[in-house]
Amino acid sequence: MKQNNIQEVLKNHPLVPVVTIHSEDEIEPIISALRKRNVYCIEVTLRTDFAFEALRIIKDRYSDITLGVGTVVNTQQIDELVEIGVDFIVSPGLTSRLYYHFMTSKIPFIPGASTPSEIMQALEYGCDTLKFFPANLFGGIKALKTYGNVFPQVKFCPTGGVNESTFEEYLDLDNVISVGGSWMTK
Ligand code: 3PG
Repeated sequence: MKQNNIQEVLKNHPLVPVVTIHSEDEIEPIISALRKRNVYCIEVTLRTDFAFEALRIIKDRYSDITLGVGTVVNTQQIDELVEIGVDFIVSPGLTSRLYYHFMTSKIPFIPGASTPSEIMQALEYGCDTLKFFPANLFGGIKALKTYGNVFPQVKFCPTGGVNESTFEEYLDLDNVISVGGSWMTK
């Protein structure tokens, strides 16, 4: 199954809020803000010492939230995420080592790509659902339109610099499956 069936996860969650959590008291307000927007999905970045604990807490207390993890860059992190039982993994890029570890983990995953060669490399591994990152720095909507002509088989989740006034335009593109970013909780 391609990328452990990431498309099944993303098609239910057109908005993927990217959050960085430093302490337990931040969790409840973040989840409440998301629920108010009807968003039942979260991507917790592995950018703080508290991130793994935050994942465990959300997994235990908020069963209605689809629990994702971002900024995953090495195989040790993937092993810990298997133990926690997260719902999906986001990575800023892709290496062969990571690809095989992701597949073995059985967790749905979406790797990042921003250039044509990176997209082609991902396609060689059989990945057709990619995070377009950092979207705003690599051409944004215009780039995605061009990639739609060149790589019609690829679906993207643009992330990076997307905001309240641009996310709908991204979502309207045929080759965009969902949109990620931190604006939803700011
Ligand atoms: C990130 O890596 O921090 C995400 O891409 C979110 O980016 P944003 O803060 O620009 O939405």
